[in-house]
Amino acid sequence: MTDFMRTVLCVAAALTGATLTSIAGAADAIPLTIESARPGAKIERHIFGQFAEHLGRGVYEGVWVGPESKIPNTRGIRNDVVAALKAIKVPNVRWPGGCFADEYHWKNGIGPRDQRPATLNPNWGGVIEPNTFGTHEFMDFLDQIGADAYLSINVGSGTPAESADWLEYLTTPQPTALARQRAANGHPEPFRVPILGIGNESWGCGGSMTPDYYVSQLKVYARYARNYNSQQPMRRIAVGSDSVDTSYVEAVMAAWKNRTWAWDIEGISLHYYSVVKWPPAYKATGFGETEYAELLKSTLRMDELLRTSSAIMDKYDPQKKVLLSVDEWGAWLAKTPGTPEGFLEQQNSQRDALIAALNINTFARHADRVKIANIAQMVNVLQAMIFTQQEKMLLTPTYHVFRMYVPFHDATLLPVSFDAGTYRQGEIELPRVDAMAARDAQGKVWVALVNLDPSRTVSIDIEVPGVKSKGARGQTLIAPKIDSVNTFEAPETVKPKAVSAKTSGGKTTMTLQPASLTVVALE
Ligand code: AHR
Repeated sequence: MTDFMRTVLCVAAALTGATLTSIAGAADAIPLTIESARPGAKIERHIFGQFAEHLGRGVYEGVWVGPESKIPNTRGIRNDVVAALKAIKVPNVRWPGGCFADEYHWKNGIGPRDQRPATLNPNWGGVIEPNTFGTHEFMDFLDQIGADAYLSINVGSGTPAESADWLEYLTTPQPTALARQRAANGHPEPFRVPILGIGNESWGCGGSMTPDYYVSQLKVYARYARNYNSQQPMRRIAVGSDSVDTSYVEAVMAAWKNRTWAWDIEGISLHYYSVVKWPPAYKATGFGETEYAELLKSTLRMDELLRTSSAIMDKYDPQKKVLLSVDEWGAWLAKTPGTPEGFLEQQNSQRDALIAALNINTFARHADRVKIANIAQMVNVLQAMIFTQQEKMLLTPTYHVFRMYVPFHDATLLPVSFDAGTYRQGEIELPRVDAMAARDAQGKVWVALVNLDPSRTVSIDIEVPGVKSKGARGQTLIAPKIDSVNTFEAPETVKPKAVSAKTSGGKTTMTLQPASLTVVALE
């Protein structure tokens, strides 16, 4: 079998989960070739972005505890959460929503905190929104973790003037009235807004707009919600696909092709959650192998969705000027028993860690188009990195995945060819192995390997023609069971362990444990 055929088999497996004949045989190692001489696109670090919506305990408690809190904090922002997020080098945080963004009025969230109005959060439990975490607190949080702002402006219930004012307040270096207000509120220097979302799910909670109506709004907002600082580039992201529904992509890209001097965008979004059936009811713990396989299958559909959106974009933009931003993704599961309705709190298992790894590998394979992605969400909500309980903090299996992938930030994609094999559960057939490789800025070759099969180990013979290596070293994320989770009582049930292998005869053999993620560098 040629490398080309193996690549085709691997891609086909990732795309369709089709049955493939195992070439290596169960007991043999699967050959995997990393083609270091054929570098692909840069894997932008922004695909490792986070999402922090005013939802449940995501911002309040999860990030913001207030300066008076006994929980150690810096200007009201939890020190433990900041330290954990710095370690995964968060590139950007999308804020303030989600659905919340289309009901957010930024002027409620500036000025003295004790004078800010209490408003409502009708989308998420109908709770009071105290507005104590507003623009300055968000920007302070970003400074503390070293991330960029991905701001979503209110297209659903706001006005172009309100958004234009927010951008002027944030970005202008000129002494306008809004800039002076910003200075009076403690920040004379302009803030940076490198990414701007123009609406959120405008087909749904963001206003139920038809594609054409949204396009007319987009043109207005893209014109007036300006970046007022020419020294600081800003990428504007339009609303795009709702999973399989691509009507927005078609309408936005057709309009973009005929754009005038008066407006432009730099990206278009895609939202897709790993869910088997809506409303999401799959258990976060205590699930069986069928639910495990079903959710992985749902995750692997990401590739097909990216291909579909990319194909439409290619029609209007063959030079790939407009990027794809998968700014909501992750597993959406049944809520943790006893938690409030609308707070979207769910446990996070080894299965969810694999869901994260499979998605990241998929984004990396589409690195020529996918330049931004944001997992939903950062703390205490949906597929979170971090859980908090008063003064305690816990790292989830998904957090460890993001930490293991740090070497892939801004690395260069390298093609891999291998026979993915088949993992079967009942009627469901999935690739047994998923792999992605890249070269970092120092020239080191990294490979991320997922063994989807929860019962069988698999050995991989890694070969990198043209690269001499003595061995491989890195980490593997394994767990006692597919539904193993970390809890405040047992916080280290799922955590990475060191792995290494020697190279012999040009092959580095890694043995992947069942249902595991392994990330190694060739040395
Ligand atoms: O992430 C939770 C919600 O899911 C977001 O607010 C919305 O954009 C999406 O439907």
